[in-house]
Amino acid sequence: TVLVVDFGAQYAQLIARRVREARVYSEIVPHTMPVQEMIAKQPKAIILSGGPSSVYADDAPSIDSSLFDSGIATFGICYGFQAMTVALGGRVARTGLSEFGRTHIDIANPGALLHGVDTGSSVWMSHNDSVTQAPPGFDVLATSGATPVAAFEDTDRGLAGVQWHPEVLHTEYGQVVLEHFLFDIAGIRPTWTMVNIVDDAVETVRAQVGDKQVICALSGGVDSSVAAALVQRAIGDRLTCVFVDHGLLRAGEAEQVERDFVAATGVDLHVVHAEDRFLNALKGVDDPEEKRKIIGREFIRVFEDAAREIVAKAGAEGGEVEFLVQGTLYPDVVESGGGEGAANIKSHHNVGGLPDDLQFTLVEPLRWLFKDEVRAVGEQLGIPADIVWRHPFPGPGLAIRIIGSVDHERLEILRKADAIARAEVTDAGLDRDVWQFPVVLLADVRSVGVQGDGRTYGHPIVLRPVSSEDAMTADWSRLPYELLERISTRITNEVPEVNRVTLDITSKPPGTIEWE
Ligand code: XMP
Repeated sequence: TVLVVDFGAQYAQLIARRVREARVYSEIVPHTMPVQEMIAKQPKAIILSGGPSSVYADDAPSIDSSLFDSGIATFGICYGFQAMTVALGGRVARTGLSEFGRTHIDIANPGALLHGVDTGSSVWMSHNDSVTQAPPGFDVLATSGATPVAAFEDTDRGLAGVQWHPEVLHTEYGQVVLEHFLFDIAGIRPTWTMVNIVDDAVETVRAQVGDKQVICALSGGVDSSVAAALVQRAIGDRLTCVFVDHGLLRAGEAEQVERDFVAATGVDLHVVHAEDRFLNALKGVDDPEEKRKIIGREFIRVFEDAAREIVAKAGAEGGEVEFLVQGTLYPDVVESGGGEGAANIKSHHNVGGLPDDLQFTLVEPLRWLFKDEVRAVGEQLGIPADIVWRHPFPGPGLAIRIIGSVDHERLEILRKADAIARAEVTDAGLDRDVWQFPVVLLADVRSVGVQGDGRTYGHPIVLRPVSSEDAMTADWSRLPYELLERISTRITNEVPEVNRVTLDITSKPPGTIEWE
């Protein structure tokens, strides 16, 4: 393990991901963790991240210099580089010269860290203070316009640092420098491969679950599918998955789960067809929050009934169901402030509120993985690409993409339009360029059109393709006009109730990704 010590910058997650891209396992820990605790984790190396403070600010987080006597290789980045300098007896000063964004470095002496890096190559900087004197025993490797010491190393002690951000894409040789630290200075070998990830996760699940039974709510999304497939790999038919078809899915999705996912993984699937129940409960409701509440409530009831049946059946056969699979990912764990310990369930997650008489312990096989790793694990486990590369889809499904009340007929109209948009984006090879592509039916709006020789009075469809990294912010996707034209022509030709197709060109904020 490599520990990435988070000094409060948004870069810690990125550093951890880059370390894993180098095929070395990494975890993020807060800078408030005592050094003895870090050492007790027996990391192969420690990386001190950037942070927003000045090392001379009153509340500046520092690093206990006993870390550097522990013999653990340590790499400082930006603020971490400066904190390391101060702790080891070098000097950091406010020179009056700041650097933000692209900067060029001069390499005087490449050493092990900058071996093969071009002098003059560009790096991403973000700092006011600068290291003006390296600590005793360190070689200065590079400078930049505003920074007398931009990189240093002491290979005897396995210590090194850079003022710039090697983890960001704009830094040329960023990954190279990080790997020089990991492989050449810290002497780590790259063993964190997909096969290992899967094997480790399988072992962990087996150890946690023992000979008990496990239940899982499958939504058809990437996270729950990969989590279920991993647990199935670990404990086979002691896993039972429940798939609630609430009738609000897109065309072909329920079939994909029932047929393709089961065929690929061998998961024991318990399907509950509950379209009528959900549509009855939603009848006449057009308020978005009301819709969400109804769907959440019905979902829990249906899942609860199914879970009770499975628990009773297992009991009759002499087994016990004690565990519930949850597809929590590492960013959720980091963002909720907990590396370990208490389980964290996303508030909008489908199975958040199980009643007290159905107590399960959570199994979270993905809680150490980033989304791209989850997808890679999914591929490794043989889950169909259609599922592994699926765009995020909200739990309440198409109900929050019909503006107005929801009924079977309206769902069918939206399903047809959505299927056309999806097929065209896939044909254009643009699936992975688009984060998500909601197609929205304005069910209570009608406008006049003309088709053939007749007047029409139909509904508009809104196309809402967006690009994003985390769904917190988003921009509208600049899809090619030819593609938009094909989608528009096909929808108006093939879906008789629709006579107008519009494009949503709002970013988030101010718009959300979904319309409700
Ligand atoms: P908004 O519309 O808030 O959506 O920009 C951000 C992301 O969250 C998804 N979303 C949901 N996912 N249950 C979910 O599981 C929900 O109730 C829900 N509402 C929005 C949305 O699709 C987007 O990816």
